[in-house]
Amino acid sequence: MAKRRLTIAIDGHSSAGKSTMAKALARELNYVYIDTGAMYRGATLFAMKERFVLNHQVDEESLVESLDRLFLSFKYNPATETSEMHIGGINVEKEIRTLEVAKNVSLVAKIPAVRTKLVALQQRMAEGSGVVMDGRDIGTVVLPNAELKFFMTADPEVRAWRRLRELKEKGKETTYNEVLENVLHRDKVDSERAVAPLKQADDAVVIDNSNLTMEEQFEFMLNVALKRMET
Ligand code: DC
Repeated sequence: MAKRRLTIAIDGHSSAGKSTMAKALARELNYVYIDTGAMYRGATLFAMKERFVLNHQVDEESLVESLDRLFLSFKYNPATETSEMHIGGINVEKEIRTLEVAKNVSLVAKIPAVRTKLVALQQRMAEGSGVVMDGRDIGTVVLPNAELKFFMTADPEVRAWRRLRELKEKGKETTYNEVLENVLHRDKVDSERAVAPLKQADDAVVIDNSNLTMEEQFEFMLNVALKRMET
């Protein structure tokens, strides 16, 4: 019997390893992977380039008025085997991963009009099944009917060490304290914002991966998905 293709939502705290797991699951199951964090980062980069973000303050009115000019899309790059973020057709995958963007993204992600635009786009991208989408509000707002929802977390210190290692590997100069501060700040803003705050869906499978290896975690998630396909 052919296995049922699922829509899988993965939410959780920043730097909890959501995208690594989402990508691995999508590859294993031959599903499409959609990184919604990249979309909020794209919107933030756009706001920064348009000079709507100055000294960590957003000129919300100007940004909202300009949202019609924001064209976000993913294009698959076979060389990196990932779908890379583009703004108006220009590849910005590297730029959206900088700490500067990370520092401003929560400010932009809490603007209701930004969320409305991106959620609509995400829902269109997820039409049809065989999708893994990761973010903060996927199981609660974007895809509340997803057949499988995960909520991933880990201790903030563990997440900061992992993120620091990642940034160092990419040659970015930063310190553990700076990264920890950013992780804690994003947890706070993501959880406390008025619109679509980060929270666990009631029917999510919760994974605290502080003491799990990637392999252990992947095996666990894959098994849950395979079982769900049979129900
Ligand atoms: O997953 P990430 O770190 O790339 O996400 C970047 C930021 O975008 C994060 O600080 C919270 C925000 N975000 C959001 O508000 N809603 C989502 N669905 C995904 C990300």
